[in-house]
Amino acid sequence: MPILEFSGVTMSYGNGAAGSRGRTAALKDVSFVTDEGSFVLLTGPSGAGKSTLLKLVLASERPDAGTIRVADRDIHRLRKSSIPYLRRNVGAVFQDFKLLPDASPLENVALALQVLGLPPAEVDLRARRALTDVELDPNTRRSSRCLSGGEQQRVAIARALAGDPAILLADEPTGNLDPRLSREILDLLQAVRARGTTVVIATHDPLVFEHVEASQILTLAYGRLVADTAAVAPMPADAPAGMPSAVSIADTMSGAGPIGAVA
Ligand SMILES: Nc1ncnc2c1ncn2[C@@H]1O[C@H](COP(=O)(O)OP(=O)(O)O)[C@@H](O)[C@H]1O
Ligand SMILES: [Mg+2]
Repeated sequence: MPILEFSGVTMSYGNGAAGSRGRTAALKDVSFVTDEGSFVLLTGPSGAGKSTLLKLVLASERPDAGTIRVADRDIHRLRKSSIPYLRRNVGAVFQDFKLLPDASPLENVALALQVLGLPPAEVDLRARRALTDVELDPNTRRSSRCLSGGEQQRVAIARALAGDPAILLADEPTGNLDPRLSREILDLLQAVRARGTTVVIATHDPLVFEHVEASQILTLAYGRLVADTAAVAPMPADAPAGMPSAVSIADTMSGAGPIGAVA
């Protein structure tokens, strides 16, 4: 079942009318489908549009054209009523994960659940479970500013997972971590996927490609989707019926300039 679907999505930043000068196109005519339970790597060099794509899924930015469906719902058509829907269904970890520095890990996670309107006992239970899942002690009273970078990243992941979202988005989750911590975080994200959550990671870190077993790799260059390993290539006229030729990951890796350029 598709959990995330972009069709013909174009998005530009700036104040002018869509398509006018003075607007920077960040995504151009992007279309893809991601199945439930996938582990997706969204890649491409800095400035390619990765973070913009994630922000569109969260509805914190709006497309100029095209549609974005999360679990079969067009999230921008009914944008106001989609916000609570997205809060429940999409968890996100951004680079500036903005933990409350004076609050404990438990308080940070609990706050995100209170926003969902859950009763206090449920908030406490879920927050503790989410912290235990990322191997943090829910009872620690240390404020978040005293945690290491890796621990802070775990709190941010626990916060994103506590509401039990269908999709977890992570923007450059290994960006500020050393290789050992990066591997730990990636293992954690793979465990999240093993529980059935669809995971989408935006990254241009080669370590991520070495370490994770991705089910779909989307490559952006200058705002265009230039490769999608889950897309079925057009079938040659003489191909046997029922034998779609999927583009292999190896083809994408060797053929895509953007990955080679940043490795
Ligand atoms: N808030 C913004 N205002 C104007 N331009 C932006 C903004 N955010 C991103 N851009 C531009 O959009 C393009 C895509 O950026 P981004 O999605 O951040 O790429 P990536 O995450 O792949 O590095 C870049 O040209 C960038 O400069
Ligand atoms: Mg980015």
